[in-house]
Amino acid sequence: MSTAKKEYKRVTVKSLVDMKSNGEKISMLTAYDYSMAKIVDAAKVDVILVGDSASNVMAGHETTLPITLDQMIYHASSVIRAVERALVVVDLPFGSYRSDPKEALRSAIRIMKESGAHAVKVEGGMEIKESVKRILAAGIPVMGHLGLTPQSIYKFGTYTVRAKEEEEAQKLMEDADMLEKLGCFSVVLEKIPATLTKKVSEQLTIPTIGIGGGKYADGQVLVVHDLTGMTHEFNPRFLRRYMNLYEEMGNAISNYVKDVKSMDFPNEEEQY
Ligand code: KIV
Repeated sequence: MSTAKKEYKRVTVKSLVDMKSNGEKISMLTAYDYSMAKIVDAAKVDVILVGDSASNVMAGHETTLPITLDQMIYHASSVIRAVERALVVVDLPFGSYRSDPKEALRSAIRIMKESGAHAVKVEGGMEIKESVKRILAAGIPVMGHLGLTPQSIYKFGTYTVRAKEEEEAQKLMEDADMLEKLGCFSVVLEKIPATLTKKVSEQLTIPTIGIGGGKYADGQVLVVHDLTGMTHEFNPRFLRRYMNLYEEMGNAISNYVKDVKSMDFPNEEEQY
């Protein structure tokens, strides 16, 4: 047995709440496969989200609705095998938790048992109260998700900024308060005005994680394919691209094709 001390202290749901009290911002990023999760974890991202955005960026669907529970478990298991430090949170997919609290619990248990994930994320407020309660009662940590909730896209009809009107903002604040009181450890706030993020973040003791929610959130999350520029056609205002992988990978692959065609690859050293 190795006696080497682990270099990292694991991030837990408790460390995230402590980070908020200490004023340290939380970094969260998606990953859906082993190789990407290795890179993201080594870069010391605090939370890795196995998001149902896998439906878009991995499978090419227009929305997050088609991805199944089995597919989420497959992605989550691959990520878990790579991660040593980050807290791994997995989205409960559309159709697996909203209509029936018992089904919600069964779905959450399958994710935890079959993938080894550390927590689940669910979209919605008052409408899913009983499901959230049931999952939490089983000892499974839950992250909420309010504002733009992509699983309800056909109800909204658009991906524009949410809760600009007072009534919707008020409901969001009540939902956030309810999620905290139930025992959720964190809430994602997607595409809402920065002033509302500020109010919610001040109101809650658990951390808020923003995506298009502005600078007052206690942490930030992005989709790794967007941050790295793999998804070059998606350009919302909130997105900061740190590289242009679409172009860089494209150039590398074009060079490979050129080298194969010209018989430059493989050379003497690259063969047995
Ligand atoms: O699925 C996802 O990637 C998400 C983030 C956008 C928060 O839910």
